[in-house]
Amino acid sequence: MSKETTTTQNDLQVIISHCKEYGFIFPSSEIYDGLGAVYDYGPYGVELKNNLQQYWWKAMVQLNENIVGIDAAIFMHPKTWKASGHVDAFNDPLIDNKDSKKRYRADVLIEDYVAKIEEKINKDVEKAEKKFGETFDKAMFLQTNPNVLRNREKADGINARFKAALEAGDLAEVRQIIVDLEIACPISGTRNWTEVRQFNLMFSTEVGSVAEEASTIYLRPETAQGIFVNFLNVLNTSRQRIPFGIAQVGKAFRNEIVARQFIFRTREFEQMEMQFFVRPGTEMEWYEKWKADRMKWHRSLGFPQEKLNYKDHLKVAHYANAAVDIEFAFPFGIKEIEGIHSRTDFDLTQHQNLSGKKLQYFDSELNQSYVPYVIETSIGLNRTFLALMCNGYKKEKLDGDNERVVLALPPFLAPVQIGIFPLVNKDGLSEKAEEIYNELKWDFKCFMEEKDSIGKRYRRMDAIGTPYCITVDHQTLEDNTVTIRERDTMKQDRINIEQLKQIVAERVDWKKGLR
Ligand code: GAP
Repeated sequence: MSKETTTTQNDLQVIISHCKEYGFIFPSSEIYDGLGAVYDYGPYGVELKNNLQQYWWKAMVQLNENIVGIDAAIFMHPKTWKASGHVDAFNDPLIDNKDSKKRYRADVLIEDYVAKIEEKINKDVEKAEKKFGETFDKAMFLQTNPNVLRNREKADGINARFKAALEAGDLAEVRQIIVDLEIACPISGTRNWTEVRQFNLMFSTEVGSVAEEASTIYLRPETAQGIFVNFLNVLNTSRQRIPFGIAQVGKAFRNEIVARQFIFRTREFEQMEMQFFVRPGTEMEWYEKWKADRMKWHRSLGFPQEKLNYKDHLKVAHYANAAVDIEFAFPFGIKEIEGIHSRTDFDLTQHQNLSGKKLQYFDSELNQSYVPYVIETSIGLNRTFLALMCNGYKKEKLDGDNERVVLALPPFLAPVQIGIFPLVNKDGLSEKAEEIYNELKWDFKCFMEEKDSIGKRYRRMDAIGTPYCITVDHQTLEDNTVTIRERDTMKQDRINIEQLKQIVAERVDWKKGLR
């Protein structure tokens, strides 16, 4: 069957509808009209999310003898957040439009403005590429084209001014940049802005049974601090020597001012973080190593290199001396999915000072104790899930008027790995299919269905990303063979049932992308 891809450029609305229709993601408490920017994962969503999480865990913990895992509690002693700087510095600058009463992140308004200039540059490059074809010299074009040079100077100028304002903590200047750029509120269209104010992103709640005894604690805004406060516990029990890492997956909470773009930015989300403890002075080598390793992991998810990007931070967070984002080209723009940060000895030193406990490592080679430096890799599980959906979703035109939606997920992450179908629900085919299901379910996530035409059943499996479908037909009863259909090519092979396990195991092997 010939096929032609008609849609690869995904629109976020299409992804949101697909997630709802096929049981990946539902709005939270939907029967009460939902809760803004909070989502629940459905039967296929939870499988995909768990698979993604386990894949990260295997890549970080199982494949690295010097990385171990922990699972710390969400609630932590309130002093944790004083020490980490989150009480004083975990703020977003917000600004309100006085006419629409809408609230925005001031930094996002400026970044979006700069992104539009970058888009203009990219469009000029694309146009010239088309015009000049193979003779096009992109580097030369970027250095000489007057339009590009003017836009580059403009973008760099805004970035430099914004960076200086952030570093000086000068919120009046941040507002002035918005005014000077004539940025208007997308709702009211006016430039009637309030002052810029800082807003702390941590959620707080009370612990304790009686009001007088209760004390304020926070829902953790990052999982990293659970690792730092357990540094000595892990060091003393895991027989690790520096350099070594501690990994963790868990929920984090941030009272985001602008929570939007589906599961990209939510107030409750999951992080997969790893803190790698190193000898001071060696941190930049490890920073470069983890930058490269993490990019390789993203590529192993099937993300093409042109959809991935490193972006150095304009202003590093209060705890870091170098920081880079790995970005992904979402339908709504190029955005961060993972941060890699050189966090120096900031966190351990802060906890050491506030707790009065020594958080040091004795380095027998140097015959010296020190507070280790830390390289952190911090990735959003939900954001990476969204990147997988956006990258995988395709609408394809088939022969005639037929169309199919296919979710080209990496086979090892697919919520269902094998669909098992009796061609018809009679003549003992269902019983045979059930026999196969009962054998394969021990090794793979399988799904068996008898209803509807075989074509419709294939389409449903394509739409949830099932890489293989097995069909049991009358020939099966004669020679113990079935057809196996591959999702992406739709090619079908006839194989013996005895070979099924081995063939599928080879094809859904998670190790291939990382070796
Ligand atoms: N411990 C460092 C840290 O938390 P971050 O850059 O603030 O760094 C790391 O967050 C990752 O967590 C981001 O790259 C993103 O994937 C994810 N993340 C952060 N805030 C999020 C939110 N509100 N919703 C979904 N994911 C979020």
